[in-house]
Amino acid sequence: MTAIAVIGAQWGDEGKGKIAHLLAQDADWAVRFNGGTNAGHTVVVGEGQGSQTDSPSEFKFHLIPSGALHPHCAGVLANGMVIEPFSLAQEYEQLKQALGREPRLYISERAHLILPYHPIVERLEGAKSELDTTARGIGPAYQDKVARRGLRVGDLLHPERFCEKLKRNVERLLALYPGNDELARIRPDALADEILRVAEGFRSGITHTAELLHEALDRGETVLFEGAQGTLLDIDFGTYPYVTSSHATVGGVGVGAGVSPRRLDRVIGVLKAYTTRVGAGPFPTEETGKIGERLRGTGANPWDEFGTTTGRPRRCGWLDLVALRYAARINDFTELALMKLDVLTGLKELKVAVAYRCEGETIERFPPDAETLGRCEPIYEALPGWSEDIRGCRTWRELPGNAQEYVKFVEQAVGVPVALISVGRSFEETIWR
Ligand code: IMO
Ligand code: MG
Repeated sequence: MTAIAVIGAQWGDEGKGKIAHLLAQDADWAVRFNGGTNAGHTVVVGEGQGSQTDSPSEFKFHLIPSGALHPHCAGVLANGMVIEPFSLAQEYEQLKQALGREPRLYISERAHLILPYHPIVERLEGAKSELDTTARGIGPAYQDKVARRGLRVGDLLHPERFCEKLKRNVERLLALYPGNDELARIRPDALADEILRVAEGFRSGITHTAELLHEALDRGETVLFEGAQGTLLDIDFGTYPYVTSSHATVGGVGVGAGVSPRRLDRVIGVLKAYTTRVGAGPFPTEETGKIGERLRGTGANPWDEFGTTTGRPRRCGWLDLVALRYAARINDFTELALMKLDVLTGLKELKVAVAYRCEGETIERFPPDAETLGRCEPIYEALPGWSEDIRGCRTWRELPGNAQEYVKFVEQAVGVPVALISVGRSFEETIWR
């Protein structure tokens, strides 16, 4: 039995989808425990292992765990998620086509629903513009959850109850925002009918998912927990208020799936060989000039730094070891997966932040508030780059000496071994150490 969590160590978009898909080769279950349609995982199947199809196909999942693309792996959307029913129905169909049969996909009755008024509320409250969110209604859906008026997936099993709660929520919003056209156009009865109809597609999978996972672990099966977003976007431990609304750290497995983190055998921190952030908020190692552009790429390549969910260009910069040490503490990583090392190829000098300077003081701890972090200047160490194309490397020994030195520097500074290095987009372009 193995229970593994894959957790973003930075601001999301670390390449968790590739790692999760690789690890799910040996897993019986793949589980999402936080977030919703704000996540975007691109998985390319057919370029290497895991292929069910003859030609490579690309899957862009927002809700379904990437591991569920493996025929032997069941998927779980656990209670900590917020689920947009129309998107789920659509992704369910996509997965069904990829597998050539009905997917084994289970959805927690406790998970909350994102409803069409949530993105509207997000815009009205200004979160979209001030925080530069993904505008998917994530925040307002979690607000309803915490305010104890949310609609849950389990409500879909009771049409009358569902309809009544939906009506109550729409009425509340109309009272809050009188004269808002978009809200006024919502017809609760018709909307309820429509949602109940699309939910027919996945209704048979609605269940008590925590129980399923406990039983699977007791039977000795392997369960993979796929974190969405990253540590620095966690509602508690991230750069608040420039964060998402769920628990993207390892604690999210406990509250978001009902499985105690004590049961985890491995906690894998996924990080890029540099740093990116999409959306507003402090980012000490950001490079706005040439280096930033070079790291971002042009967008011609699907793995250039443009968002999977929103297409927004990502802010790019050097690796931040202060933030990574912090992420390793919070999550107690057992190992690291270092992604996109190939992007650094050709850069003469690689900088890594080893501490910050803030108002004349040197600090080595990640500050708890965004204002302080915003005043921090990185203190860099420079390492020599390499010019050899590393995409063909499959073993540690094949990596150029300077690339090895870079990896070892990260390992030592964070205090966690790098178990896997990604040197390209496809599954084979991976070095296991
Ligand atoms: P994956 O799973 C990168 C960011 C948004 C915004 C903030 C809040 O692909 O790593 P939200 O819509 O969640 O309320 O937005 O969080 N954000 C992400 N950034 N990757 C993600 O997911 C993200 N999900 C949310 O850009 O700054
Ligand atoms: Mg993303």
